[in-house]
Amino acid sequence: MNHVRRNSSALLKLAATILLGSATLAVAATAPAPVSDPHLAKLAAQGKTLFTQAKFKGNGRVCESCHLGGGLEPGRRPDGKPIPSLANAAAVFPRYKERAGRVFTLSDQIRGCIGGALEGQVPEEGSEELTALLVYVTSLSQGKAIDMGGKPQ
Ligand code: HEC
Repeated sequence: MNHVRRNSSALLKLAATILLGSATLAVAATAPAPVSDPHLAKLAAQGKTLFTQAKFKGNGRVCESCHLGGGLEPGRRPDGKPIPSLANAAAVFPRYKERAGRVFTLSDQIRGCIGGALEGQVPEEGSEELTALLVYVTSLSQGKAIDMGGKPQ
C-alpha cells in the first residue's frame, strides 16, 4: 500500500514537472528574451515609458493607443482595423513600404508613426528620445532571427 502511494506521488510530481515545463515554454514563446546590457536595459525602460505615455505635442495619442500591450499584442487602428503586433518588428525591418515607394528602416517607421499617427513633433535621428524608442521596440524582437522584409507577427 505504502509502495503504491509512493509511486503515485512520484507520478504526480512528474505530471507537475511536465505541466510547469510547458507553461514556461508557452511564456518563452511570447515574451522577448531579456536584454542583458545595463545601458540598453535602461534605455529600453525609458523607451517603454515613452511608448506608453509620450504624446510628442501631437493629437493626444501615444504609441500604445494603437500598438496594444506595449506592442506585444495585436494592435488596432482608431477605425478598428487590425495592425500586426510589434513582437518581431525589429527583425522584419528594413522593409519595402509600398505606400512610400521606398525601403523603410525601423527608425523611419517610428518617425513616420510619430509624424503621422500621433501628428507629433518628430524627434531627430540620434536624439535620446528616438534612440530610447528604437531600443524599446528592438528589445521586443530580442532573440528572434532577422528576416528583412518578412511577415510581421
Ligand atoms: C493611430 C495609430 C498608431 C499609433 C498611435 C502609432 N502607430 Fe505605429 N503603426 C500604425 C499602423 C497602422 C502601422 C502599420 C501600417 C503602416 O505601415 O503604417 C504601424 C506600424 C508600426 C511599426 C511597424 C510594424 C511592422 O512590423 O511592420 C512600428 C515599429 C510602429 N508602428 C511603431 C510605433 C511607435 C513607436 C509609435 C509611437 C511613437 C506608434 N507606432 C504609434 C499605427 C499607429
